[in-house]
Amino acid sequence: MTKAISDLRSQRWFASSDIRGFAHRQRTQQMGMRREEFMGKPVIGIINTWSEMSPCHAHLRDRAEAVKRGVWQAGGYPVEMPALSVGEVMVKPTTMLYRNFLAMEAEEILRSHPIDGCVLLGGCDKSTPGLLMGAISMNLPTIFCPAGPMSSGKWRGVTTGAGTHTKTYFDQLRRGEITEDDWVDLESRMTRSAGTCNTMGTASTMTSIVDAMGLTLTGASSIPAVDSGHPRMASLCGERIVAMVLEDLKPSDVLSQESFVNGLAVYMALGGSTNAAIHLIAMAGRAGLTLRLEDMAAAAEKIPVLANLFPSGTYLMEDFHFAGGLRALMAKLTEHLALDARTVENRTLGEAISGADCWNDDVIRDLDNPVVPLSQGRTLVLLKGNLAPNGAILKSSAANPKFLKHQGPALVFDDPGTMMKELDDPDLDVTEDTVLVLRNAGPVGAPGMPEWGNLPIPKALLKKGVKDIVRICDGRMSGTHYGTCILHVSPESAVGGPLALLKTGDTVVLDVEAGRLDMQVADDELERRRAKLSPPTPLYATSFTALYQRHVSQAHEGCDFDFLSGVRNLPEPAIY
Ligand code: FES
Ligand code: MG
Repeated sequence: MTKAISDLRSQRWFASSDIRGFAHRQRTQQMGMRREEFMGKPVIGIINTWSEMSPCHAHLRDRAEAVKRGVWQAGGYPVEMPALSVGEVMVKPTTMLYRNFLAMEAEEILRSHPIDGCVLLGGCDKSTPGLLMGAISMNLPTIFCPAGPMSSGKWRGVTTGAGTHTKTYFDQLRRGEITEDDWVDLESRMTRSAGTCNTMGTASTMTSIVDAMGLTLTGASSIPAVDSGHPRMASLCGERIVAMVLEDLKPSDVLSQESFVNGLAVYMALGGSTNAAIHLIAMAGRAGLTLRLEDMAAAAEKIPVLANLFPSGTYLMEDFHFAGGLRALMAKLTEHLALDARTVENRTLGEAISGADCWNDDVIRDLDNPVVPLSQGRTLVLLKGNLAPNGAILKSSAANPKFLKHQGPALVFDDPGTMMKELDDPDLDVTEDTVLVLRNAGPVGAPGMPEWGNLPIPKALLKKGVKDIVRICDGRMSGTHYGTCILHVSPESAVGGPLALLKTGDTVVLDVEAGRLDMQVADDELERRRAKLSPPTPLYATSFTALYQRHVSQAHEGCDFDFLSGVRNLPEPAIY
């Protein structure tokens, strides 16, 4: 389908002869634009999440200029519009509290302005799903322009990545293996450039997945943030979106059950972040498609980790790019891909990856030589049982295999402050068998489901050289972290999930092979405990958080707001 310029929604603003049309043209010229520069042209909104509180997006101000260059060349009129940055490091209590806020903002920015198509600039963890959830709901032609990973770091001759290595060095500091001075020195050396985390954390997981789903120029997600190829890619996004507007190629034309199959295949082959499980369910919900944790677990059963990247492997995103990037990975995965799925380039994924070469088979492994064989661990395991009736997930590829069948006494904490203090007690009564539990970390309880799930190893065990134990949480974990961390327990304790009934000393049984997570507590005892359960977590009375707590869904449902999921059928805004 093609669209005439006169049919574009922007023309309702600019082409009308009434007093409103006059004001829209007048005010655009107020910004120094000549009439010829915007009249009769597709208007491209560049939604930019640049902010000085988001180092991962520090280069996006410049990149918007590259996008504009492409738009101008293709005969469009580019307008840059800022949106909430949700920079992972600075935003507290957690960016997850604001993912839906960004989704609302992106959708309503597009709806309320004379925009025909958009380029989304983002990449830090929540910005990818947030921007895309909004754009999917608005359903105007959309290209996602990923921020790209930062350059690899170096410390004393050793290559370092963001996130994963910070945690490693912090544990070394706590064990006394590096000094306070070393720790300060590391601050300035680990993150060398603008761009998203360079391990396979949530950022690269999400940008790679949406790349495989056809929402970026194919392969764009691997290009390092400060590589000269990055602004060239951004310019191409600008050029392509103008064509997409005229082709009327919308997210609903790109997204299908097949594109989610492709997203899941890449997710698993990357050993991607547990966070993606939530975001993908939410994105599918916006597209009117159904995606369940069961679908993800099934994909993970078939597709081993092929990308040799931290935290499952040993390389960083720059190495992945130079090995051929996502196109090379997908070329090795073709038997698991739906090659007929469409991309924003208005071709099939099969066409988009044909001829892709791999230049380093150690960084991007073949299916018969995975980083983690399926027998040893998977990107995502779904666990159910009397502790998590609606599911909990575990990245077994990043866990210690010896814990995958485990039974041990629970040590339960209700808040992270108390937990941190007690875990630092060198005489704490814990063994390697202890199952550490933190609850009230879910979407409603925390609120916002923070990344508290990589519970610290108790100091008493660290001193003995213990690096992993079984941990359970109804919150999330950073995609850059590793360990036997069971996450996203649903329903969460704050809404009465059975995790709320667990007591210190109860036996917890984990059986990954059987997909089970249970507490060995008799049903009648659980009922007695439920009757005595303290009142539910108080809800905020005012602010965005009040809205969030009342409308957020549970982890297995994607944590979207109940009133935002599903396909929209809204009228265009009135212009009078
Ligand atoms: Fe932004 Fe990791 S903190 S991508
Ligand atoms: Mg992260």
